[in-house]
Amino acid sequence: MLYFRRATEDDVPEIVSFTMDTWEWGDYIPRVIGRWVAERRAYVAVWSGRIAAVAAMLLIGKSAYLQGLRVRPELRGRGIGEAMTRFLLDEAKRGGASIATLLVAEWNAPSHKLVQKVGFKLRMYIYGGRPLGNSGGRCLSGVEAYEAVAEALGKSRGYACLPDEPWVCTALTPWDLLSRGTPCVDESLYIGRFSFGKARGDPGVDVTSLTPDGYKERYAAHFLYAIEL
Ligand SMILES: CC(C)(COP(=O)(O)OP(=O)(O)OC[C@H]1O[C@@H](n2cnc3c(N)ncnc32)[C@H](O)[C@@H]1OP(=O)(O)O)[C@@H](O)C(=O)NCCC(=O)NCCS
Repeated sequence: MLYFRRATEDDVPEIVSFTMDTWEWGDYIPRVIGRWVAERRAYVAVWSGRIAAVAAMLLIGKSAYLQGLRVRPELRGRGIGEAMTRFLLDEAKRGGASIATLLVAEWNAPSHKLVQKVGFKLRMYIYGGRPLGNSGGRCLSGVEAYEAVAEALGKSRGYACLPDEPWVCTALTPWDLLSRGTPCVDESLYIGRFSFGKARGDPGVDVTSLTPDGYKERYAAHFLYAIEL
């Protein structure tokens, strides 16, 4: 029987054992899973006493962000990824979320199919990678900061990525952004490691953005999907 539960510290070695080689370049899950477990955002699917899948769900106000779904390679194609996704949506609803989002890399055909089957709708593209240059521009505070962020969110239909965790992209309020960074403006508005326009920030770390410009190394585009709960 397949069941789902929150991941614990004891699960970490088993999760690492089947997520090390997801792609030719490896995977980022082994690097982050310890932190995700500590933050209580990681969940596992258990089947016949083994961990069959792992994924995370993060609540930010009324929004849930799903990330890092990995099904054990030998157990793929049996409905486990879909069941895990549906479980996380129920868990998000129980946590008070009214919308859930996730990102899928452009090239990941199986994942696009899976999330569309569950009912997610494509909302926009998110670009990520290492930016060309450091941030400049004028930084804002007080009412001016609030108004600039509210206006930018209005144009992006309410979607943005977290300034301090730029691969977490979901429906956010101005306060969600302002509590995590200071907005600055040059050609467009950026806040921490996320930009509403072209990529900005420290060339040594990943940033995300809503347009594909401003990168020295840009990864594949990601599709932002959303579903109402
Ligand atoms: C993508 C992944 C999570 C799917 O998990 P899974 O348990 O194999 O998927 P399921 O059996 O639940 O399939 C559910 C639906 O997804 C789609 N799907 C899954 N695998 C597919 C594949 N290889 N090709 C095309 N569609 C696929 C199908 O629509 C399927 O429904 P169907 O069988 O009725 O057609 C799994 O292949 C995986 O861990 N891949 C590597 C990591 C990854 O890409 N993670 C997602 C990052 S966003």
